[in-house]
Amino acid sequence: MSKDKFTVTAALPYANGPLHLGHVAGVYLPSDIFVRFLRMNDHDVAFICGSDEHGAAITLRAKKEGTTPKEIVDKYNGIIGKAFNDFNISFDIFHRTSAEIHHETAQDFFKVLNDKDHFTKETSEQYYDEEYNQFLADRYISGECPKCQNPSAYGDQCENCGSALSPTELIKPTSTLSGKTPVMKETSHWYLPMERHEEWLKDWIKEGKLDGVQQHDPAKWRNQVVGQCMSWIDGGLRPRAMTRDLDWGVKVPVDGGDGKVLYVWLDAPIGYISATKQWAADKGKDWKDYWTGDRKLVHFIGKDNIVFHAIIFPILLKAHEGLILPDNVPAYEFLNLEGDKFSTSRNWAVWLHEYIEAYPEKIDELKYVLTSIAPETKDSEFTWKEYQTRINSELADNLGNFVNRVTVLTQKYYDGAVPERGELTDLDKSVVTQMAEFSTKISDLVYQYKLRDAQAEAMNLARLGNKYLAETEPWKMIKDPANEKRVRTIMNIAMQITAKLSIVLQPFLPSTAKKISSALNFVSKSWDDASEFELIPAGHSTSKTPILFPKIEDSLVEAEVEKLNASRVVETVFEPQKKDASFDEFTKMDIRLGKILDAEKIKKADKLLKLTVDTGLDKRTIVSGIAKHYSPEEVVGKTVTVLMNLPPRKIRGVESNGMILMAENAEGELSFISPEKDFEAGSGIS
Ligand code: 2FM
Ligand code: ZN
Repeated sequence: MSKDKFTVTAALPYANGPLHLGHVAGVYLPSDIFVRFLRMNDHDVAFICGSDEHGAAITLRAKKEGTTPKEIVDKYNGIIGKAFNDFNISFDIFHRTSAEIHHETAQDFFKVLNDKDHFTKETSEQYYDEEYNQFLADRYISGECPKCQNPSAYGDQCENCGSALSPTELIKPTSTLSGKTPVMKETSHWYLPMERHEEWLKDWIKEGKLDGVQQHDPAKWRNQVVGQCMSWIDGGLRPRAMTRDLDWGVKVPVDGGDGKVLYVWLDAPIGYISATKQWAADKGKDWKDYWTGDRKLVHFIGKDNIVFHAIIFPILLKAHEGLILPDNVPAYEFLNLEGDKFSTSRNWAVWLHEYIEAYPEKIDELKYVLTSIAPETKDSEFTWKEYQTRINSELADNLGNFVNRVTVLTQKYYDGAVPERGELTDLDKSVVTQMAEFSTKISDLVYQYKLRDAQAEAMNLARLGNKYLAETEPWKMIKDPANEKRVRTIMNIAMQITAKLSIVLQPFLPSTAKKISSALNFVSKSWDDASEFELIPAGHSTSKTPILFPKIEDSLVEAEVEKLNASRVVETVFEPQKKDASFDEFTKMDIRLGKILDAEKIKKADKLLKLTVDTGLDKRTIVSGIAKHYSPEEVVGKTVTVLMNLPPRKIRGVESNGMILMAENAEGELSFISPEKDFEAGSGIS
């Protein structure tokens, strides 16, 4: 039977910042494991990635760093590309969407769809920032998500709940350029009438069928992917603008496109195709072989990318005609960090390039931990403590310990030569039977995209080896010369387990697998070999014991947690500006300085203080909700700002005549507003 052919893509990271562990755990590491496994199984595979260099994510970053978009993408493409390389992610190509071949490919794609009337041109009113003279699409506008109430959703998507949005859906929209409420202004754009595609999309996503022909196995699609798509489709698909009024991006290649670029979510996935073109050209291959015919296209993505890969891009691919649609879209949920979400703006992250710089010898350790906690079906969390525990008690105590025992004992007893096997006991036979099951179990899991379980299964092989040695205790048996033959058999079997480990660990822990291989002087890159029992024959000479996993000290955990806390940036999020108030409305308020003469707590009201205030006009009682911030002793004698003409109000049985005005910062701390000069009580404020 011929093997399935694959084109595997990993979401193109925005070249607007470095990668953190959340990105790695939820896209790049799983796709790399999957591809390494496919290659070992002789599948024809292309593994495609690159940086996403257009869209507001880039231009806004450039504005923030006071530089140009070009400088930003060059900088971060370099940082990201190097980190992937150092982390041993085995892309066939890591390309970029600023490349000429990409601009050409995306423009051709647009023209093909336009010529086939797959777009409509519509004029509509869109949000516009009058201060910056710019239309506000995508990340240029933020507001409250109508689905999950996240207050900082973007105009194209909410990163909290993953919903795809349009700017007009946002509640209380604000320009991310000026911070002001935008106005509406007319503009024309090319739209993708997605509602035309509802019917086939439903069949294709739910049943895996296209025009009645089975295309993919829907049982292999993750529930959350099908769920998110269906809720989008059931909510009614609407036309979506495929162009933007911006000057950074792929220029719209048809009449009337001046000053406009392609929507980044149109251009970015086409980046998978242009990257394939570049790779194929470099390797003397034909790119079309990777995007047409009998081939499985698999997109590894984060959950916030689902609709773009499972609805919008498939619509575009189908409309283009002749190109394959995804066979699966394994989307990952989010990884959190030490009890909080990863956040670039708050600098709450473990940056991949920093980790690599600090621990260049611990690449596989991080891979192991991230795969163990990968957010496959629900959000999960990285903590440095768990990093330590998993490395020490799983990698070191299980895998490292087993390989160490086998290789050390073989060196000691047989000078490194694999001993001969004698007759097998029932225990041996049972171990041999169990060994035979691993390669199929692991590969079944990988083909179902259950990489977390697949890695755990590979580790169970080491567990089986440890258990076997613990039960047979060759180090005790060897003391009696009558057991010599028996010990040889045990060590031979243990050696076969070790060799098998060097194969099944390759997709997950490539450097570790290599170290084991070179210790055994045994190399196999074929998954099929893992189903064999005898991998190294008696008499084969092995080398020195590798040191696989030094233990992680408490001091590392403490230092990393401290570093994280120390570099955290506290975001200042203030309420947006309120609606206009007229000058008349303002002058109606009587605001003056007052001096606090006396203060006391109010029984059973731990937030309130009863103040006696000299207002210059009178001495009055004001109840103020400041008791959590100030003690009565602290406030007596202070000159503060008083709103005089609030109608009297009874609070906890005390009549309050006015209000003390306070400033409140982003952390919710309160401060009196006191005059800079020593002004007397009663002085007016206007
Ligand atoms: O969410 C992101 O980081 C996007 N840059 C992913 C793009 S994936 C693809 F379509 F290019
Ligand atoms: Zn939301």
